[in-house]
Amino acid sequence: MTDQPGGLADSAFLRAARGQPAPHVPVWFMRQAGRSLPEYRAVREGVAMLDACTRPELVVEITMQPVRRHGVDAAILFSDIVLPLKALGVDLDIVSGVGPVVAEPVRDLAAAEAIPSFDGDRVGFVTEAVNELVAQLGGTPLVGFAGAPYTLASYLIEGGPSKDHALTKAMMHGAPDVWRALMDRLVGISAGFLRVQAEAGASAVQLFDSWAGGLTPADYREHVLPYSSAVFERIADLGVPRVHFGVATGEILADMASVDVEVMGVDWRVPLDRAVQRIRPHQAVQGNLDPALVFAPWDVIEAKAGEVLELGRTAPGHIFNLGHGVLPSTDPDVLTRLVDLIHSYEFAVAS
Ligand code: CP3
Repeated sequence: MTDQPGGLADSAFLRAARGQPAPHVPVWFMRQAGRSLPEYRAVREGVAMLDACTRPELVVEITMQPVRRHGVDAAILFSDIVLPLKALGVDLDIVSGVGPVVAEPVRDLAAAEAIPSFDGDRVGFVTEAVNELVAQLGGTPLVGFAGAPYTLASYLIEGGPSKDHALTKAMMHGAPDVWRALMDRLVGISAGFLRVQAEAGASAVQLFDSWAGGLTPADYREHVLPYSSAVFERIADLGVPRVHFGVATGEILADMASVDVEVMGVDWRVPLDRAVQRIRPHQAVQGNLDPALVFAPWDVIEAKAGEVLELGRTAPGHIFNLGHGVLPSTDPDVLTRLVDLIHSYEFAVAS
């Protein structure tokens, strides 16, 4: 990373992530690469999702597509949270329109202990793709990511997407030894996958604990937080900003922010000024326009994005994003217009 003015370290995204003043509020979108883009659908034609993730030339192309099209302030590696599990030998697939499906769900101690340890050599294609991306991206940071232990565990235990996570919670409460064994392994996998990406040149990393918001605060604190915390601690030495994100996390935001992390991702349900009161004073915020709002008339989008920007000023740093991923039917032109709006926004009163 260079410290020259205008270089990567000086990018609006990294400055905001570190709580330093930025020339403009940086913006990127979770799930910005993907089905909302015709050029994505074209290159994915006939290639299975997880196969695409293992082909560096495709990963580079798909990661670059939204950067070229929208002029966002950060790229996010084209991959998936279940990719490291697959690469390590867990029999799973991503079924289109469904999500990750696991052939043999983890239901007992033997199955939990059979989850392999992380091995960076199994994801050499990620290192290759990240190296090439860093070269192509120049001054635009690349965000690496991983699924948090709880969210990964939910797929492994349920066998696929689930609304209520009943089997996951049953294991958490009814089979603590199995839970611990599985979560310990997933800590190693999440942290290992983040480390590989950062060591290959990713400028920041995000831990997606997408489904943690379905837990009671007490359960989150006792059965999940220690493992997510361990992931962040294990990568603290890398020196890259770390983002912690989940959906519907209003009630657990303070607990999520208690880990060693620089940026808190906030979904659209909590106004950013209230989120700031729940997290730690040095932490920057990332978010949080409702992803469904981009279907509203432009004047509404403009007003709501303005509100997000104004509330974001209550944090030491603000990275504009949606409150969750881009919905597949989103009009990409609206996202481009939104990026332009964020970049040219003039705050009402100087801070
Ligand atoms: O943000 C990006 O553009 C980078 C790529 C990215 C993908 N998945 C690609 C993808 C990221 C960051 C993810 C993270 C991910 N994957 C999460 C956490 C984020 C979140 O949304 O909360 C989760 C829970 C998953 C698991 C997963 N993978 C789901 C639920 C699905 C959707 C299934 C469907 O088809 O509706 C996937 C598939 C997936 N991951 C796609 C993409 C582009 C769609 C596959 C396709 O295009 O065929």
